[in-house]
Amino acid sequence: MALEDDIRGMSEKEKVVFSPEKEGKKELIFDQKETILKSAEIDGEPRRVQGSNEVFYIKLASPEVAGAIFKPASGEVDFPELGYWYGDYYKRERAAYLVDRFFSFNLIPPTVIREISGEIGSLQEYIPIHRAGWQIESLSDLVAINEQDFTKMAVLDFIIWNTGRSLPNIFIVDQNKQERLICIDNSLSFRKGTVLRAEGTDKLLSLKEIPEEIINNIEKAFSNRENLEILRNMLNELLKSEEIDNFFDRIERVMYKKRITDEDIADFSY
Ligand SMILES: Nc1ncnc2c1ncn2[C@@H]1O[C@H](COP(=O)(O)OP(=O)(O)O)[C@@H](O)[C@H]1O
Ligand SMILES: [Mg+2]
Repeated sequence: MALEDDIRGMSEKEKVVFSPEKEGKKELIFDQKETILKSAEIDGEPRRVQGSNEVFYIKLASPEVAGAIFKPASGEVDFPELGYWYGDYYKRERAAYLVDRFFSFNLIPPTVIREISGEIGSLQEYIPIHRAGWQIESLSDLVAINEQDFTKMAVLDFIIWNTGRSLPNIFIVDQNKQERLICIDNSLSFRKGTVLRAEGTDKLLSLKEIPEEIINNIEKAFSNRENLEILRNMLNELLKSEEIDNFFDRIERVMYKKRITDEDIADFSY
């Protein structure tokens, strides 16, 4: 498998497939690694990783996904200054991944929800990093590293209303001698009652026209009404209905205006 596929999931053609209907419900699977993350045997003891929340490295008995990052609901902490209280960050990690793949941003590693040792949480493919965001001076340096990925990230963060895109939550990976960005830690997303605070990705984006490729990908995915309905149903199990409505409003606004201004950001800040 090419490295591109390895990190970004399946090719465009086979991207969206239906899982066998579960209790009459259809689901979208974007990457075979989701199935592996959900079912592979766990090898050894979870190892604690440094994080604001409780975070664990899990070794999986699978050649395709050797390691994963587990964030149990029971280890989540409050962020009152953002209006965030623990208990459902893991669901937002999964919702952010679904949206990332549905609209072909392909910046977030495969993420599922799984119970491990009696604890429910998010399980995300472990990505070996080349350089971490915290090793660079500022967010604007990322533009020089990969402007296309940076713009994608800024649009994605607006759509999912990510209030936690700080430098440590961005990985820089080396892919075919090109540096690409990977977005981890999408736990503080979608929540009503917070101000978009993604270390200024929004500011850097402001007033610039969003590249056609990003708009086309969004429009293409959005026009598939059947899949869109399935996405909505999947999000229904993860987010509040008002949060889903706001998310769809932001998607439509991006498609309509093809840019994100300070006004748009203010309109969704509460
Ligand atoms: N998908 C991943 N691949 C590799 N390392 C990861 C991944 N997700 C998280 N980590 C590591 O775990 C740390 C904490 O994870 P993060 O999701 O940022 O949790 P927190 O919500 O506590 O900030 C990260 O800074 C990173 O070092
Ligand atoms: Mg983090």
